[in-house]
Amino acid sequence: MVLLRSLVFLCALAAVVFAVPAQEKRVHRQADLSDHAHDDSHGYQYDHEAFLGKEEAKTFDQLTPEESKDRLAKIVDRIDTDKDGYINHSELHYWIKHRQRRYIQDNVNKHWKDYDKNQDDKISWEEYKNTTYGYYLGEEFDDVEDKDTYKSMLARDERRFKAADRDGDGIATREEFTAFLHPEEFDHMRDVVVQETMDDIDKNKDGKVSLEEYIGDMYTPEEMESEPDWVQTEKKHFGEFRDVNKDGFLDSAEVAQWVLPGEVDHADNEAKHLIHETDTDKDEKITKKEVLANWNMFVGSQATNYGEDLTKRHDEL
Ligand SMILES: *[C@@H]1O[C@H](CO)[C@@H](O)[C@H](O)[C@H]1NC(C)=O
Ligand SMILES: *[C@@H]1O[C@H](CO)[C@@H](O)[C@H](O)[C@H]1NC(C)=O
Repeated sequence: MVLLRSLVFLCALAAVVFAVPAQEKRVHRQADLSDHAHDDSHGYQYDHEAFLGKEEAKTFDQLTPEESKDRLAKIVDRIDTDKDGYINHSELHYWIKHRQRRYIQDNVNKHWKDYDKNQDDKISWEEYKNTTYGYYLGEEFDDVEDKDTYKSMLARDERRFKAADRDGDGIATREEFTAFLHPEEFDHMRDVVVQETMDDIDKNKDGKVSLEEYIGDMYTPEEMESEPDWVQTEKKHFGEFRDVNKDGFLDSAEVAQWVLPGEVDHADNEAKHLIHETDTDKDEKITKKEVLANWNMFVGSQATNYGEDLTKRHDEL
């Protein structure tokens, strides 16, 4: 049960957050680069976490300004992959994207050993299945109704596992297991995410979602209750936005547009932002000198977080 819960927890992290409106609960958004608001007039926490990753940003906050600048200079060298002395947009974009993946990767790593029972640094479908469902599928667990529920969850997991397992060997590497747990981050997982949504909503299994099924997924009328406004709004949305070809149903392409919105690339925006703010000679690429001149925007240190640290120290005393 603990394992099942931790899996649900991981998925919840990847999805939006808690208390989302009913019509949003199906939407798989890619995680933003930071939980902080991006408002540079109130501090650079967003930029720090985007540029360094959440964990690393915390480490930098403990450094003196000198140490912080030293480490930043080394990072600049790593970002400049072609070693031409400039960081351009694609180099910075790649770097930021990779930090973000690492945060997700850290989540996966935290739970890895729960599944990798034989510690071969791979998770086979059998291992995953035994760990997650073993008890529920065994003889001793004889609640028939629940057994059916677990069987259908198992079938769904198996399909998702196969989609994530790109080389089809039945064994997930860390990268493949990451796609299994965070499908919204991977293009090749789109179809399976759409299929899972379809399975849930398309009650009569005709391969498309009617208005009734769409609303039924988010709202069950109570006796004597008049239909809430938000349900009427959702009905309108169905016709106006979701049903693009206006045939009265959502096919899988329309479901995909709804649950996997091709949205802003946060890493792309952040790379543009950092270059824009740093590029004093306006040549669209930045040098180590330009980065270091704006070091407090890229990374933190005890100095940039001085006020915050002061209160923390006070509390600890
Ligand atoms: C940016 O640098 C990379 C090499 O790291 C290079 O492949 C790419 O073409 C450059 N982009 C531009 C717009 O100059
Ligand atoms: C999974 O459980 C079955 C039945 O208990 C067992 O035969 C099998 O060896 C287990 N597989 C793994 C990989 O743990």
